Amino acid sequence: HKRVAILISGGGSNMLRLVEDMAGDHPARPVLVASNDPTAAGLRRAADLGIETAAVDHRPFGKDRAAFEAALQARLIQSAPDIVCLAGFMRILTAPFVDGWRGRMLNIHPSLLPKYRGLNTHGRAIAAGDAEAGCTVHEVTAELDDGPILGQARVPILPDDDAETLAARVLVQEHRLYPAVLRRFAAGCTDPLTLT
Ligand code: GAR
Repeated sequence: HKRVAILISGGGSNMLRLVEDMAGDHPARPVLVASNDPTAAGLRRAADLGIETAAVDHRPFGKDRAAFEAALQARLIQSAPDIVCLAGFMRILTAPFVDGWRGRMLNIHPSLLPKYRGLNTHGRAIAAGDAEAGCTVHEVTAELDDGPILGQARVPILPDDDAETLAARVLVQEHRLYPAVLRRFAAGCTDPLTLT
């Protein structure tokens, strides 16, 4: 089995879907769930499932991203992952960290990349009058929300949508897309997947 570490910052619903999928016949197994926020609800949820967890709090490091990333890296390599999945991990990671995981680190982003990198993706899609939104799983590179696309799923934007209702519709698709992409990626497939 490939060893998978999952990095979260919040509730961890995507993390839970990845873990659930890996419980079955699957080329990978979860070996660590880590968060930059020690209070992230997802940490408890992962621990309840018997998965090793870690908190690497970014706040004591202040503006020193390199020192935070060194601490995160040290904790990650203790678990010797083959693949690192960012799942609602809300810290920007810099090139020295990301480059070391090149080709082995995935992220899920709540937009149809290359549209709407960064935050408030749903509000921006609605404000732009887009007919559809969605989510993307991609390989992580040093550029924010860039890197080879491994999969996308689309949803319609409805006339009465606000950022919250659209986010909920996209999240349902995130929960389908990320496990499907990880399963393929762990088996060595990097062809983009389009879910319908
Ligand atoms: C998800 O919608 C994910 O796509 C998004 O945060 C949410 C985390 O939810 N990620 C980003 O915005 C990354 N910049 P979860 O903790 O329930 O998986």
